[in-house]
Amino acid sequence: MSQAPLSGKLTLVTGASRGIGLAVADALHAAGAHVVRLARSLRDGATERRTDLRCDVTDPAAVDRAVARVLGELGVPDVVVNNAGIFFIKRIEETSPAEFAQTLAVNLTGPFLVARALVPHLVRRGAGDLVTIGSVSDHVAYSGSTAYAASKYGLRGMHEVLRQDLARTGVRTTLVSPGPVDTPIWDAVDPDSKPGFTKRSAMMQAGDVAAAVLYAVTQPLRVDVTEIRLMPTVYTARG
Ligand SMILES: NC(=O)c1ccc[n+]([C@@H]2O[C@H](COP(=O)([O-])OP(=O)(O)OC[C@H]3O[C@@H](n4cnc5c(N)ncnc54)[C@H](OP(=O)(O)O)[C@@H]3O)[C@@H](O)[C@H]2O)c1
Repeated sequence: MSQAPLSGKLTLVTGASRGIGLAVADALHAAGAHVVRLARSLRDGATERRTDLRCDVTDPAAVDRAVARVLGELGVPDVVVNNAGIFFIKRIEETSPAEFAQTLAVNLTGPFLVARALVPHLVRRGAGDLVTIGSVSDHVAYSGSTAYAASKYGLRGMHEVLRQDLARTGVRTTLVSPGPVDTPIWDAVDPDSKPGFTKRSAMMQAGDVAAAVLYAVTQPLRVDVTEIRLMPTVYTARG
């Protein structure tokens, strides 16, 4: 692999203001790509090979506006990473309809809106990577995760269908499903104070997920990385 495997490539990452999305954006940038970051707390701006756009991925008009700007000013992205997400732990009777709806809106409708706006362009070009950040909660049930699991199992379903629909178009689809990663998403949960939760010090780091994304999108075109599952290693330090 050359030193800058994504040199000349255009990439787009949602939820890239912090956590995993920020680490993915930084890894893609370090690999030579131009990176477009989308998030609600970002201010519109651009520096060398970096473009930031304020965007709420639950808002169809905002997603269409951001995508139109990217297509008009920068072109068709080579790599699209649907990463933005929210998470909380509440039993079903404690979960309000608004919290459930917002979880689906960010974690499922957001990736739908972004994919819907960009996939036709990737298909027309006959190449591109659509990476979805799922979760261990897209295939394992955790108590108190009703809203999150509904969104992430749904996201895996959408990934599987897109995978089938995009077969033989040249567009690759990858689902990256990590277990616990030490990011701000855990701040409200405070897992260190709760028995049975992985302590933050034992979690994976955002850069570990970014490395998996980078691996998928830098494979030779003949290789389509369908799915990557990552879990923290449960280990006892020795010596
Ligand atoms: N951390 C983990 O243990 C873990 C494990 C498995 C999977 N994941 C998944 O990894 C992804 C990233 O999680 P993280 O841990 O990095 O969380 P995080 O640190 O809380 O970051 C979440 C990102 O999503 C953005 N976001 C939230 N709502 C948004 C909206 N409506 N529109 C646009 N952007 C929005 C946030 O930016 P703004 O607030 O600026 O909008 C932020 O950049 C999520 O899909 C999560 O489900 C995380």
